[in-house]
Amino acid sequence: MIVVGLMSGTSADGTDVAVVHIEGAPPDLRWQLIHFLTVPHPPALREAILQAMHPQTGRVDLLCRLDALLGEQFAQAALEGIRGAQLDPKDVHLIGSHGQTVWHAPTETPPSTLQLGKAAIIAERTGIPVVSDFRSRDMAAGGQGAPLVAYVDLLLLQDEHRPRAAQNIGGIGNVTFIPPRDRADLPPLAFDTGPGNVLIDHLVSRATRGQATYDRDGHLAARGRVDEELLRELLAEPYYRFPPPKTTGRELFTAEYARRIWEKGRARGLSAEDIIATVTALTAHSIAQAYRDFLPAFPQDVVVSGGGANNPVLMAMLRDLLAPARVVPSDAMGLPVDAKEAIAFAILAYETWHGRPGNLPEATGARARVVLGSITMGR
Ligand SMILES: Nc1ncnc2c1ncn2[C@@H]1O[C@H](COP(=O)(O)OP(=O)(O)O)[C@@H](O)[C@H]1O
Ligand SMILES: [Mg+2]
Repeated sequence: MIVVGLMSGTSADGTDVAVVHIEGAPPDLRWQLIHFLTVPHPPALREAILQAMHPQTGRVDLLCRLDALLGEQFAQAALEGIRGAQLDPKDVHLIGSHGQTVWHAPTETPPSTLQLGKAAIIAERTGIPVVSDFRSRDMAAGGQGAPLVAYVDLLLLQDEHRPRAAQNIGGIGNVTFIPPRDRADLPPLAFDTGPGNVLIDHLVSRATRGQATYDRDGHLAARGRVDEELLRELLAEPYYRFPPPKTTGRELFTAEYARRIWEKGRARGLSAEDIIATVTALTAHSIAQAYRDFLPAFPQDVVVSGGGANNPVLMAMLRDLLAPARVVPSDAMGLPVDAKEAIAFAILAYETWHGRPGNLPEATGARARVVLGSITMGR
């Protein structure tokens, strides 16, 4: 099958589109990436998403309209990806659309989650069936609805002998521990490690008065000095100590949270670059600490994906803190860092289409393996 995976993460930077050829069934599933692109969100759309994610500004009329706007945006992104792959929509069998998470409350009673981007619009514009709303079924089965990529990580990155960690660094950081095949005693595990780029992005926007939305190639962090005392204070955030399964998001790491870091840094006489270096170190330290506290074994390979893999300062900090593990971008394993999550949702959609479960109870805490998502028929 030819499957398009669509993903827009907590960074709300754009729609990642992966056109993937998939065949077979686990454990013998074969895939090949045909084409990948990111369609950046227009600034007004990004602004609306960030407003929708906030309880004070996420009004119901905005949410309703955004659901449709994102449906159109995802549909156009899918069509652009299909053109880029030099295919016709008629050649494409399926779309897996993660949607845009605006709220995720897995630990409340009842647990709930909301991803926007109407599947009906995507199916109507493309004529292709769409699998969407992947997280709800896992939550209905008692899981946290995340991380869902864990199942695919296991499928694609498991080694015979080497324990591995697949670390994604999007807005939020999440890890999948992948035990080697020869260690049946070690369980897989996955959880959110804490902030990925979300705090860096907030603080860069603040420091540059909105001129930049992220620390491109770590340029600002490279010019700053990590303030150990502020770092220690930030690492006292209780989330890092909670045992997995656990997930987090912009609900915790808000603009207000970043503002408090900014004020603390300024009060300590730090420059903008020092503060950005310090939150970059926070991402790296929260990841390393989580591995030491919670992983069933220390990984020999750490496979990094997501936009954070493009930040050389962050990668250098991770190499330093995770030694002697080999820290490599996922490209080294044939998974382009920016495409990995979109590829994962193409594969999860493929599994759903074949009636196979796509959650990993060890990762989400669900009572059972369940078939994920809702299917909207094509033409
Ligand atoms: N060249 C780069 N240098 C530094 N950071 C980058 C670079 N490219 C992307 N990023 C970071 O990655 C983020 C987007 O990562 P992504 O994996 O798309 O996250 P999400 O899944 O949350 O959308 C950006 O907001 C930015 O912080
Ligand atoms: Mg993104």
